[in-house]
Amino acid sequence: MKKALSLLTVSAMAVSMLAGCGSSNTAATTAAATEAAKTETAAPAAAATEAATAAAEAGSADLADKKVGVCIYQFSDNFMTLFRTELQSYLESLGFKPENISIVDGANDQATQTNQIQNFITSGVDVLIINPVNSSSAATITDMVTAANIPLVYINREPDEQEEKRWADENMNVTYVGCDARQSGTMQGEIVADLENKGDINGDGKVSYIMIEGDPENVDAQYRTEFSVKALKDKGIEVEELDDQVGNWDQAQAQSLVANSLAQHGKDIEVVFCNNDAMALGALQAIEAAGETVGTDVYLLGVDALQEACENVKSGKQTGTVFNDHISQSHSAADAAVKYLKGESNDHYIGCDYVKVTTANVDDILASLG
Ligand code: GAL
Repeated sequence: MKKALSLLTVSAMAVSMLAGCGSSNTAATTAAATEAAKTETAAPAAAATEAATAAAEAGSADLADKKVGVCIYQFSDNFMTLFRTELQSYLESLGFKPENISIVDGANDQATQTNQIQNFITSGVDVLIINPVNSSSAATITDMVTAANIPLVYINREPDEQEEKRWADENMNVTYVGCDARQSGTMQGEIVADLENKGDINGDGKVSYIMIEGDPENVDAQYRTEFSVKALKDKGIEVEELDDQVGNWDQAQAQSLVANSLAQHGKDIEVVFCNNDAMALGALQAIEAAGETVGTDVYLLGVDALQEACENVKSGKQTGTVFNDHISQSHSAADAAVKYLKGESNDHYIGCDYVKVTTANVDDILASLG
């Protein structure tokens, strides 16, 4: 099990990323960062005892016989693999027995996942953690699960506002744990805007970019697409979209899309925005195959802070990424599940901050990824 990114690192990074942060809770973030900065020296000890305290608070003995069902939209997704691996080991550290933790692969098919949820309900799990295949199926899923009196923690794919409002209005034991994807998009744009040439490699007064989107049904893809470009415009930078393609979070699809785009637009492309790092890794393959160099001919941005992408940021093969904190999100999801099991309630939205990753802090991020 990994420790959550140390407060020390986060506070330093949070302070450095505050200017222009697109998150709606900027004031709260500022206050939190200031508070964290004040307590920097106490942070390592706090991080070290975090797991032990969480386990003690959870009352390990009570959890040994509790069954938890976890539905993941697709096992082959790189980021969700990190997430579920961390979730499994953190649940075990809290006192759940490995044989009582069941994690299933929805294979990117909502019908398959709906069956899995039904099977979990029939088998009598005590709590469910669900990463929906389609967020638009959330209302149906919520109805199935709450009708069986099972508490529910959604992760990673946020249901819409109307659905979340219903949980509060009807006092349901349902919550969502995740980050606000607008913040990650904004950070991608800011990384470009902070470059000396502000992304305008050819000096023609505008930033010409291509966008490689994740699954378009997913709010993370929609917001990252919109807010990365918005961050540039908000800083008065002129932009030109040369291409916008759907790569479904997938490395191989992104590689072929970027190869096509490079064949069509060549060096006119100054920035390749990818909604995640898996696709940025594919984009890099295409960029290198076209004989271009990141940092000189083109800038490349991703999200997630996958280990390989961070290594690329370190060596200059990727301009930047944004840490999608799977450690904090998986721990928060498990903690919320435990609170429900103890008869306590949770807020209906449990958030988490993204962190900008550039050469300036990539070593800290790599260290925290272990
Ligand atoms: C995003 C993540 C992507 C992909 C997606 C799945 O938050 O950045 O890499 O895992 O979730 O819903």
